[in-house]
Amino acid sequence: MARLWENPKSQTESIVADYTAAEDALLDNHLVPEDLITNAAHARMLAERGYISAQECRAILDELARIHDAWQSGNFMVSAADEDVHTKIENAVTIAIGEPGKKMHTGRSRNDQVLTDLRLYLRRRLASLALLAARLAQDFHDFAERAALHAMPGYTHMQRAMPSSVALWAGAFTEALADDAEQLLSQHAQADISPLGSGAGYGVSLKIDRELTARLMGFSRVQINPLHCQNSRGKIEGMALAAVSNLMMTLGRFAGDMLLFTTSEYGFFSVADRFTTGSSIMPQKKNLDIMELLRARVHTVQAAEQLVKAIPLGLPSGYSRDLQEMKKPLIEAFSIAESSLAVVSALLGGITVNTERLRAALSAEIYATDAVFRRVEEGVPFRDAYHEIKSALDDVQPPRDSLALALHASRDAAATIGTPANPGLALLLGRVTPLQKRAEAALDAACAIFPALVRKE
Ligand code: ARG
Repeated sequence: MARLWENPKSQTESIVADYTAAEDALLDNHLVPEDLITNAAHARMLAERGYISAQECRAILDELARIHDAWQSGNFMVSAADEDVHTKIENAVTIAIGEPGKKMHTGRSRNDQVLTDLRLYLRRRLASLALLAARLAQDFHDFAERAALHAMPGYTHMQRAMPSSVALWAGAFTEALADDAEQLLSQHAQADISPLGSGAGYGVSLKIDRELTARLMGFSRVQINPLHCQNSRGKIEGMALAAVSNLMMTLGRFAGDMLLFTTSEYGFFSVADRFTTGSSIMPQKKNLDIMELLRARVHTVQAAEQLVKAIPLGLPSGYSRDLQEMKKPLIEAFSIAESSLAVVSALLGGITVNTERLRAALSAEIYATDAVFRRVEEGVPFRDAYHEIKSALDDVQPPRDSLALALHASRDAAATIGTPANPGLALLLGRVTPLQKRAEAALDAACAIFPALVRKE
């Protein structure tokens, strides 16, 4: 389809079109629902301000709704020949309904259009990641609860350090994921500002209503200065990716632990065969490739964050085409994070805890610090008690039963080694449930915008 700006008498070299838009047009397929929202809100505002008639607006909205249906059933694709999603949709509407389609771009630029699409995209993807992260936090909580009776060595410097529990280990991921979900939601709030109407970066001299479009798209406010709107492209995306890469760090640590604890050497956990892959030469191999790839993809996402933050560096104020280049790392990072959350959630359901191996790893010396604390409770100064135990390490005795072991556990650390009185896990759940609700509400709000915009009154 024709480019919006092209002079038919002086066609652009195909090498230019390929270099500038071929890959970007494909990436724009991720922005179709967002561009439809931007178009619908803008059309409603144009009608409100008298730039198009109510009938023209209705025709545009109906056509946008038809495109939405086609897109949902896989029949609307942006291709390299379309240049971008904005061109594709404007052309499609114009072909379908004629004149009103040609008025859709009144008072806007693709520069503020893509900015708005990206804000809407960030809102939707951040809400959905936050929801998945909060759900996974709950999965870890449930896993911790099921594993509550299993003691496990705690390590520092990869050396046995103190007695701990599977619940404490799993609960750490619950809390980390709650932190991650919270950060994703706070980035959601940062992205929740409307740049639509900032035009190419210098506003427009028509009587557009930026408050109205912002409200129609459910943004909490208008981003005020039009030049700042352009200059903030990349900064908001970079902050969002910082939250995404923090989430990946949590998942990466889990992957590292799983790879270690499922080795024959540790053997603390085993995973169901359906989560492993085989070797083409060694018949016995059951490899946990999913965790290795997750570990590697933490770096891919961190690199995406760095790339998104680097691209705007040194650019002059206003739009430069460089900015387009951050779409790819942005979209890739979200898709990696989403699939990684899904993989971890599936794997959690296939872990067997090998109680005997865990118990065998809790060798007597791991209780040395507890022995010191017992002497402290008896009134001995800590340093004296420390040296006393250190000089007779061989005398340190493990507790006789799991109840004695439970007494060691810190009350608020989710270290539930068989202590129903331990409030740790309940405290964690108290954080997770409201986060799930907030993320769910944000996602529902994002999904409700387009149907509301095209609904017939
Ligand atoms: N694909 C472009 C981008 O992502 C859309 C904006 C194009 N604007 C322009 N002036 N060429 O930045």
